[in-house]
Amino acid sequence: MDIPALDLPGIDTSVMEIFSYAIDLVAVLLLALGIKGLSKVRSARSANSLAALAMALAVAGLLIQLQPAPITWLWIGIGTAAGGLAGLITAQRVPMTAMPETVALFNGCGGMASLLVALGVALFQSDSTDLVGRISIVVSVFVGAITFSGSIVAMAKLQGWLDTPGWTQGSIRHVVNISLAVLCLGSAIILPGDPAGISLWVLVVASSLLGVGVTLSIGGADMPVVISLLNSYSGVAAAAAGFVVGSQLLIVAGAMVGAAGLILTQVMCTAMNRSLVSVLFGGALGVAKPAGGGEQVGYTRITSCSAEECAMALENAERVVFVPGYGLAVAQAQHALRELAKVLETNGTEVSYAIHPVAGRMPGHMNVLLAEADVPYEQLIEMDTINPEFPRTDVVIVLGANDVVNPDAKTDPSSPLYGMPVLEVDQARQVFVVKRSLGAGYAGIANALFELPQTAMVFGDAKAVLNSLLSELRELGVGRKVAA
Ligand code: TAP
Repeated sequence: MDIPALDLPGIDTSVMEIFSYAIDLVAVLLLALGIKGLSKVRSARSANSLAALAMALAVAGLLIQLQPAPITWLWIGIGTAAGGLAGLITAQRVPMTAMPETVALFNGCGGMASLLVALGVALFQSDSTDLVGRISIVVSVFVGAITFSGSIVAMAKLQGWLDTPGWTQGSIRHVVNISLAVLCLGSAIILPGDPAGISLWVLVVASSLLGVGVTLSIGGADMPVVISLLNSYSGVAAAAAGFVVGSQLLIVAGAMVGAAGLILTQVMCTAMNRSLVSVLFGGALGVAKPAGGGEQVGYTRITSCSAEECAMALENAERVVFVPGYGLAVAQAQHALRELAKVLETNGTEVSYAIHPVAGRMPGHMNVLLAEADVPYEQLIEMDTINPEFPRTDVVIVLGANDVVNPDAKTDPSSPLYGMPVLEVDQARQVFVVKRSLGAGYAGIANALFELPQTAMVFGDAKAVLNSLLSELRELGVGRKVAA
C-alpha cells in the first residue's frame, strides 16, 4: 500500500501536491457539512449540492495529485462523461416512487467500483502492496461483491422482476449461506499470501453468491432496511478501497457513508419494530404485495361517504390532521393537498400533517413530497409528537396511507405488523380514509381502521378526491378569502 506522505515544505514537496492536499481537506469538510445538513428538511437541498461539490473537488484533487498522461486524461474524460450522463438521465427520469430501486442500483454501482479497484490492484500491483493493503483488498472485494450482487437483487425485487423463491424461506438457505460464508473465509485467509491467485476469484464468486443468497430471502417491508444496510456496506467497501489505493479522502468519505447508513438502518429498524437479525435471517414479512395493486381484503362493516359529506365535516372542524402515505405520492396529489389546507386555514382550522418514519417507499418520502408543494416545515409533525394529539383532533384525513395507520400493529399479536409503531388515528373523533379501493397496502394485510365506527372511506384517486373536496368547500363558501 502506498499512502502518499506529505513531506515538509522546502524539502521535496511540489506546490501542486500541497494544493491537492488542501483540496482534499476542503472536500472532506464540505462532505461532512453536507451529510450534517441532510438531517434537516430545510437544509437538505443545499446540503446535497454541497456534498456534490465536495465530490467534484475530490476528483479534481485526485487528478492534480496523479497528473495523468494525456491519453489517460482522454479515458478519464470519456468515463466521466458517460457516467455523468447516465446519472443525470436516471435522476431526471426516475419518479419519486421508484427512488428505493434507484438507490439500490446506485449502491450496487458503489460496491462494484470498490470491487473493481481492489481487483485492479490485486492483479496488476500486488507486488508493491504491503500486508495492510492486501488485507484491504480482501475486505474491499468481499464487501464490494456482496454490496453489488445484493443491491442488484434488491432492485430487481422492488421492481417486481424477481420473486422470493420458496426454498429461501426454509432452513436450506442457512445451509447455503453458511457454506458460502465458509468459502469466503477460507479464500480470505489465503488471499493475502497470493493476491493474484485462484483464491481471489473464489472470493469474488463466493461473496457475490452470498450477496444474492442473503438478499433473495428478504421481502416486503424489510426491503428498505436492507437497502439502507447495503448503502452502509458500499461505504465500508469504499473505505477499504481507500486503503488499497492509499486515498485518505476515500477512507474518510467511505467511513462517513458506512456510519450514516448504519445509523439510518437502526432508525428504520426501530420505526418498523424489527431487529436487524430478524430482517437478515427472518425471511419475508407477510405476503408483501406492491401497493396500488394490493389484493382486495375481506371486510364486512365498511362505511363509505361522498366528498360532499367529508367536506362538511372539514368545514366544521377546528383541528384537522392529514396523514399522507404512499398513495398520495402515486396520485401526485401534494399540490392539491396544500391548496385544500390553505382553504381550511382561511376558515380558522388548525392544520397539521402526521409523518410516519416509513410512510411511502423511502426514508423521508413524505417530507420530500410535501416540501415540493411548499408545505410549511413546522406543520409536519413526527409520529411521537402527534400521537398524543389525536384524541383532541376533530378530523383526520388519511390520504393513500394504509399500513402506517393500522391499529392491529398495536393490538393484534398475530398481525405481521404487530409491534410496529403506527399513527394512532383511531383515537381521533372522525377519520376519513381516501383510497381507490379496499386493496391492501405494502404489507398485504387487512386494516382494522377501515371498520371502526368513526371511520368513513372516501373512495377515489387521492388527487381527484382532494380536488372534489376543494370545490365542495368553495361551494360551501369556505375558500372565498383565498380566491379573493
Ligand atoms: P401502504 O401501506 O403501502 O398503502 C398505500 C395505499 O395507497 C394502498 O392501500 C393503496 O390503496 C393506496 N393508493 C395507491 N394509489 C393511490 C391513489 N392514486 N390514490 C389514493 N390511494 C392510493 O402505504 P403507507 O401507509 O405509506 O405505508 C408504507 C408501507 O411501505 C409500510 O408497510 C412500510 O413498511 C413500507 N415501506 C416503506 C418504505 C420507507 S423507508 N418509507 C420503503 C419500502 C416499503 P388502493 O389501491 O385501494 O388505492
